[in-house]
Amino acid sequence: MINDSYLKLLVENRWGVGQSVVQGFMNATNRMIPGTRATVAGYGPCGRGVAQTLRQLGARVQVADLDPYRRLEAALDGHRVGPLDTLLGSTDLLFLATGQPDVVSDEGIAALPDNAVIAGVGHFPWELDLGRLKSLVKAVDGSARQTADGSARQTAEHETYVQPDGRRITVLAQTRMINLVSAGGNPIEAMDLGLTLQARSLALVATGAALPGVQAVPQELDREIAGTFAATLERS
Ligand SMILES: NC(=O)c1ccc[n+]([C@@H]2O[C@H](COP(=O)([O-])OP(=O)(O)OC[C@H]3O[C@@H](n4cnc5c(N)ncnc54)[C@H](O)[C@@H]3O)[C@@H](O)[C@H]2O)c1
Repeated sequence: MINDSYLKLLVENRWGVGQSVVQGFMNATNRMIPGTRATVAGYGPCGRGVAQTLRQLGARVQVADLDPYRRLEAALDGHRVGPLDTLLGSTDLLFLATGQPDVVSDEGIAALPDNAVIAGVGHFPWELDLGRLKSLVKAVDGSARQTADGSARQTAEHETYVQPDGRRITVLAQTRMINLVSAGGNPIEAMDLGLTLQARSLALVATGAALPGVQAVPQELDREIAGTFAATLERS
């Protein structure tokens, strides 16, 4: 299971996704990050990376997670923590990083301020039930935003859901992963690392050093590749 490798979670899910999601969001919206109130739902490695990148750019970051360890980690990292519904009233930008379906309630949507924007981080575009959201609103305005060079990969569909009270809530690319929709995906170093883990794990199976079948990446291999990667960053 490459996805469970400690190294992959650290480098790709946390640092890689953190950077590329915020880059995708900025490409898609041109909204200013400093000073905005951003909420990250889900504080796994991906959510933690997004929260950290947003804060480094000057956002005021809030975090919701169902897991008490993850909430504690977020609080110790210096973020405001609370149940998602209670944070949404003070949320300009919402990033969905739980990987779970239907995490935003009708009450949560009702609490979002005018001009809030919602973007997806998790693998499936199901964290917000768009069908239900559509059934609750007065109108839906759609537009595709082009970058100056018109490149397709930096275009994200914007759908603005006009609430009965006039508040406008914009959903980017139907909450598909915004780093893949409007940025180039994860940084090349993170992708190289994932492919290295795959190739080296397959080599273990091919040479009989590991049995075929689903299994964890051996810790020695994970550590060895971590050491090689670290060495590339330790050069003066
Ligand atoms: N965009 C990308 O390039 C990219 C890359 C890697 C992984 N992912 C995806 O991102 C998602 C998150 O990955 P991860 O490694 O951080 O996962 P994770 O499972 O470690 O973290 C998810 C967190 O969400 C919390 N959570 C679950 N339901 C919740 C709810 N209703 N409200 C609040 N919190 C809730 C969980 O307690 C957990 O802490 C997954 O879907 C993963 O496949 C995306």
